Amino acid sequence: MNLNNDEEVEELLKKINEAVKKELSEKRYKHSVGVMEKAEELAKIYGADVNKAKLVGLAHDIGKELSREEKLQYAKENNIEIDEIEKINVGLLHGKIGADICKKRYGFTEDMQAAIKYHTTGSGKKEMTLLEKIIFLADKIEENRRYKDENKMAELEELRELAKKNLDLATIKAIDNSLIYTIQKGELIHPDSVLTRNGLIL
Ligand SMILES: [Fe+2]
Ligand SMILES: [Fe+2]
Repeated sequence: MNLNNDEEVEELLKKINEAVKKELSEKRYKHSVGVMEKAEELAKIYGADVNKAKLVGLAHDIGKELSREEKLQYAKENNIEIDEIEKINVGLLHGKIGADICKKRYGFTEDMQAAIKYHTTGSGKKEMTLLEKIIFLADKIEENRRYKDENKMAELEELRELAKKNLDLATIKAIDNSLIYTIQKGELIHPDSVLTRNGLIL
């Protein structure tokens, strides 16, 4: 795959579009298109590779709707490591699985795989690349995302504005919001989210 050849990229986008349309629910398909568009917008603002941002944005949730059993089986068959938190919250694995699917099906490069892998929890101890931040944020602020709760909706609008002005601050805020949300739901926090947040602040 030549990522500098726009025609080849268009072809690949078409192929991925068909796959996500078929393999995901309508709502998540729309979300995926929304992430692609938001990733494109942010890539243009911050000077990231627009083709990579679009491809990764569209494909980022490709492993999301595999069942719990299918996720565990995919991980086992493809030598994907499952950590203690992922053993309990199997849904988190869709980042690692999506990265593996995109490597094998579409020849995604390492940096593109990493952006998919880390869109769930952040990158942990490693500093996040520009593409990783763009995908992480685009996932949280794409235009189809809506909340019934007025306060959450206002917070989302604020984050959408901040993302255009300061990518790092917006990424920290997005992690903060999702940590708070996870705590409110009484779910487990993945330590990588905390390490990512601290890494961005330090
Ligand atoms: Fe996701
Ligand atoms: Fe997503």
